Amino acid sequence: METRVYQPPCIDRNVPGLMNKFGYGVEQRACGRIAGVDVEALAREHGSPVFVYDEGALRDKYRQAHRAFSTRYPDVRFAWSYKTNYLQAICRLFHQEGAIAEVVSDFEYAKARRLGIAGPDIILNGPYKTPDLLRQAVREGAKIHLDNQDELLMLEALAEELQMTIPVGIRINMDTGIFPAWTKFGFNLENQEALRIVRRIGASKHLRLTGLHTHIGTFVLDPNAYRVAVTKLLDVAEVAWREYDMALEYLDLGGGFPSCNTLHTQYLPGEQVTPSIDQYAEAICDTLLAGLPAHLPRPTLYLESGRALIDESGYLITSVVAQKRTPDGRRAVIIDAGVNILYTANWYRLRTLPARDIPGPGSDAILYGPLCMNIDVIREHVHLPQVRTGDRLVLHPVGAYNVVQSMQFITYRPRVVLVGQDGTVDVIRERETLADVEAMERMPERLV
Ligand SMILES: Cc1ncc(COP(=O)(O)O)c(C=O)c1O
Repeated sequence: METRVYQPPCIDRNVPGLMNKFGYGVEQRACGRIAGVDVEALAREHGSPVFVYDEGALRDKYRQAHRAFSTRYPDVRFAWSYKTNYLQAICRLFHQEGAIAEVVSDFEYAKARRLGIAGPDIILNGPYKTPDLLRQAVREGAKIHLDNQDELLMLEALAEELQMTIPVGIRINMDTGIFPAWTKFGFNLENQEALRIVRRIGASKHLRLTGLHTHIGTFVLDPNAYRVAVTKLLDVAEVAWREYDMALEYLDLGGGFPSCNTLHTQYLPGEQVTPSIDQYAEAICDTLLAGLPAHLPRPTLYLESGRALIDESGYLITSVVAQKRTPDGRRAVIIDAGVNILYTANWYRLRTLPARDIPGPGSDAILYGPLCMNIDVIREHVHLPQVRTGDRLVLHPVGAYNVVQSMQFITYRPRVVLVGQDGTVDVIRERETLADVEAMERMPERLV
């Protein structure tokens, strides 16, 4: 006999803007499985919330991106941007696919080395490199990208001490037409600072310029910005060649390609408006091939894409823990995952799908996290069916940055699992325990 489910009557004010010319938001679909594995079973086995990564999707994305570039330019290497997700298992997947490591701190450098990545396969970026880290990077032959003059002086002193010439790259920031320009990092091009540094290195008896690096921003929706970046880097390469006979070994165009997430400011879903990785590859490779002067040797092209490679392979399974109405009559749904583990909810309208088909009309809701903080809002407006307390909601895409930026705050940080291509589910980071959190605390003797 068919079981009939009681649906409470639902009268909702018509809120303009919820529907667009493509119908209601995608939130009405159900997401019962992730990489073929049942969402309810995952939540029962691993707890809720739980981050779930789809290995097949991650590998496919990497291969697609690599193909987009390597079919357009003969010498391409991807460097996995550790900060996007440095769980060992995740880094290992990218390294297995052929990516080297891009790191920005002693901590990330140590992680790469522990994963067996050799110095020459590590790109060391970032505005703060400790003297010890620089010394280790020099000794191990890492690709060091200078961010500022202090680093330049430190490296020169080190070279003097070690009686050697140190190969270096420099990070350049520039106006590529996007806003805001990322001017915090490296040497500015438009005010001539970058050229001054090139000349300074050219005149140095201890440093040799081998590469130029830029990372123009993140979630850059205009592939043409990369055309500008390549053209400007080539101009710098030409100066290095003409004035100092320095032929650069590589150009590093950084990352910044968007995932298919939807920015709060976007009208249409990200899937419909995000340019494809091929458009970025075409912008970069075409400009490079067309603009490279015949007298310059062809440089290796490095890319440090982060979010575009991993965002879509990550999901967060959450549970509805309570429902209420706000005083102005809005429907509010409270889930067990807050902004402390979903940093990217600040930027994106994360897709929120129930794990089961829920009949009946949906309505607008505000999606709250569980934190005792008024700012703990995951979605200000989400069109949800009539979920019940205990229902699972799957948030997606959440694979970039959230796991590593999760803040230990009020609740435990959740487990992270990886679904392999054969459906095996492995824990790749345990859920935090009270013992983990208190392990680094110390009670002063006088308070015992
Ligand atoms: C130097 C560098 N490279 C690569 C990345 C990865 O950026 P994205 O995730 O936007 O591709 C970042 C992120 O900030 C970065 O600072």
